[in-house]
Amino acid sequence: MAFPIHRPRRLRQNRAIRRLVRETSLSADHLILPLFVMHGKDGKTEIQSMPGQYRLTISALLQETAEAHRLGIPGVMLFGIPKVKDEIGSEGIAPDGIVQRAVRAIKDQTPDLLVMTDVCIDEYTSHGHCGLVKDGKILNDETLEVLTEMAITHVEAGADLVAPSDMMDGRVGAIRSGLDENGYEGVSILAYAAKYSSCFYAPFRDAADSSPQFGDRKTYQMDVANRREALNEVALDIEEGADIVMVKPALPFLDIIRDVKEAFNVPLAAYQVSGEYAMIKAAAAKGWLDETRAMSESLLSIRRAGADMILTYFAKEFARMGLEGPAG
Ligand code: PBG
Repeated sequence: MAFPIHRPRRLRQNRAIRRLVRETSLSADHLILPLFVMHGKDGKTEIQSMPGQYRLTISALLQETAEAHRLGIPGVMLFGIPKVKDEIGSEGIAPDGIVQRAVRAIKDQTPDLLVMTDVCIDEYTSHGHCGLVKDGKILNDETLEVLTEMAITHVEAGADLVAPSDMMDGRVGAIRSGLDENGYEGVSILAYAAKYSSCFYAPFRDAADSSPQFGDRKTYQMDVANRREALNEVALDIEEGADIVMVKPALPFLDIIRDVKEAFNVPLAAYQVSGEYAMIKAAAAKGWLDETRAMSESLLSIRRAGADMILTYFAKEFARMGLEGPAG
């Protein structure tokens, strides 16, 4: 008979003992801050569906990155908003495109802050798809060339890691060879390996104005119902040379995070996406949830599921609160 010998509450009775028996840690060390950069001299515009997040001109971006660095956040992930969008996403591969310029500016100011770049054409194309389009179809192999070129221009500008988020088959291998052929064998690839076709990207598409103009992303992003398929996608990306793999979104896919963690021995990232952020912000604005606690609990849960690192729009907010906040 367990009770009264076993009393699990003994190990919960004060904060000191709870700290000792705590199984999961969460600090600024584990966080990556996603940022949106746009053209313009200075200033920023708030993204309506993502309160507290902005489209930043380069001068405003540099304030954000300096602060992220000061708060101890190891890296940022950049998304670009081009001046003009076209069929092939030309600005995405331009050496003086918005992301390429932003990378140079950040590396100039804070060389120790890791700069990661999203490698995908949807933010730059008029049709909003992550692949080149012909006769209403998303082309796979032709897109790989554009992605590889984009990755190379990011790395030439100084990016430390490139992160393909397009879900075309074979992109990790193509980018790896492209980088190696150009002498960039030291640059890592963080692959959006298990990226689901999720409704939780909606606020991001507002921010980047990147909603597909026809159809949806179901022919390349994964079916939400699938679990085995995630392990296959991750295995392929690792085989092709991914250094870090990612599961995205995070909170609705904690089981996938756990599965990938158990099956593979490479570092695992999870992306707490725009919609996850927006839900917490919206409920908090109504007074229905405590924002700080909801943020901490979800981030901690993503870590507990197995993520080594988390991309989150809350990165600065969490880092500012520090370990002494409610998560402790
Ligand atoms: C594609 C990309 C998307 C996100 C990151 N990279 C949008 C999409 O797939 O539609 C979403 C991130 C978020 O929702 O926070 N370049």
